[in-house]
Amino acid sequence: MPRKALIPFAAILILVSSPLAPAQNQDQSSPNKWASSLAPTPPMGWNTWNKMGCDISEQLIRQMADAMVSTGMKDAGYQYIIIDDCWQVDRDRQGNIVVDARKFPSGIKALADYVHAKGLKFGIYSDAGTKTCQGRPGGRGYEFQDARQYAAWGVDYLKYDWCSTSTQDARSSYELMRAALDASGRPIVFSICEWGNHSPWLWAKGVGNLWRTTGDIKDRWEGKEEWKPGDCCNYGVMDILDQQVGLESFAGPGHWNDPDMLEVGNGGMTLTEYRAHFSLWAMLAAPLIAGNDLRDMKPEIRQILTHKEVIAVDQDPAGIEAHRVRKNGDLEVWSRPLQDGSRAVILLNRGAKDAEIGVTWQELGYPAHLSAHLRDLWQQKELGEHKGEFSATVAPHDVVMVTVRP
Ligand code: GLA
Repeated sequence: MPRKALIPFAAILILVSSPLAPAQNQDQSSPNKWASSLAPTPPMGWNTWNKMGCDISEQLIRQMADAMVSTGMKDAGYQYIIIDDCWQVDRDRQGNIVVDARKFPSGIKALADYVHAKGLKFGIYSDAGTKTCQGRPGGRGYEFQDARQYAAWGVDYLKYDWCSTSTQDARSSYELMRAALDASGRPIVFSICEWGNHSPWLWAKGVGNLWRTTGDIKDRWEGKEEWKPGDCCNYGVMDILDQQVGLESFAGPGHWNDPDMLEVGNGGMTLTEYRAHFSLWAMLAAPLIAGNDLRDMKPEIRQILTHKEVIAVDQDPAGIEAHRVRKNGDLEVWSRPLQDGSRAVILLNRGAKDAEIGVTWQELGYPAHLSAHLRDLWQQKELGEHKGEFSATVAPHDVVMVTVRP
């Protein structure tokens, strides 16, 4: 047969076989179709869990979406309204997830539409095991069916927990859900919540867009507490902070370490402590997921959560997470390189008395005698030119947060 005649035949073969083979591969082994383009900066939003727990309803979610807009949170960059555990009650005979019709009588699609109409995005929660942490039906065995359902509802963000997972392998469980989300055809930010138990920073880039690095945050400055006897733990802000040391190199655009959601405004800490918590999360390039009641927010809390310059540090496009430069007992210095070559720096006083904390330019990776311009972000005040070093008096449980610009 002349050679020419073979070419169309080969082309037909390729045309016929290619849509099938890659599609199968994609479901099973290349689960990152969207992962790299979603969440180029850490996601910002609001989640039901920290304040409301299971006491949730469609009315609450609507009110929170309204408040997200009216309080200026949306303008400050918060986007996602996320329903955590307790929206689901069962599966029907076809395996479809059944929504709690008492709490969500209009259904999830109508709620997602409401949130979208406000110019916001909509998130939901499930679990890689057979049951969620509150004993609701989990996603195991229903990954593709659930992902199709979420896409049909208009879900933009999925938080996927790790309760009731028995001997499941964490990496393959999350890869399976990632593949299911990809196959759904809708870009959905994937939030991995296995509490850092299986070192997700080592494998979750390209699987999830963010991964929890610790157990749950508690609305307190420090101190851990067992979840239940023998099962560790809930953590205060300082305990979570300590567990971030050494993880910074694993984060970057599209794949973030998640030290858990914000407790700012929930009542268990002082304003100073909330300001420190928020500042540190911004340094960590953490997802900023508020967890307070936005409908009833004091102006001082709103000021913290919507602080433009601190949020700009969190959202810096270079996406380089801060590292701890120095620790002398209760006194710490953290630094984060920003896209324009400057540094965001935090002087943190974990102790009970005022303390002087300093940092040298060499510790920030600058030449010792460089002259740099300083700005105090919380005071919104220029601090002038400094050569070689900077120091300040820091109140107990407080931070001084500056940018150092050569
Ligand atoms: C786990 C998660 C929390 C929250 C609850 C809900 O504890 O870590 O963030 O989602 O489950 O049950």
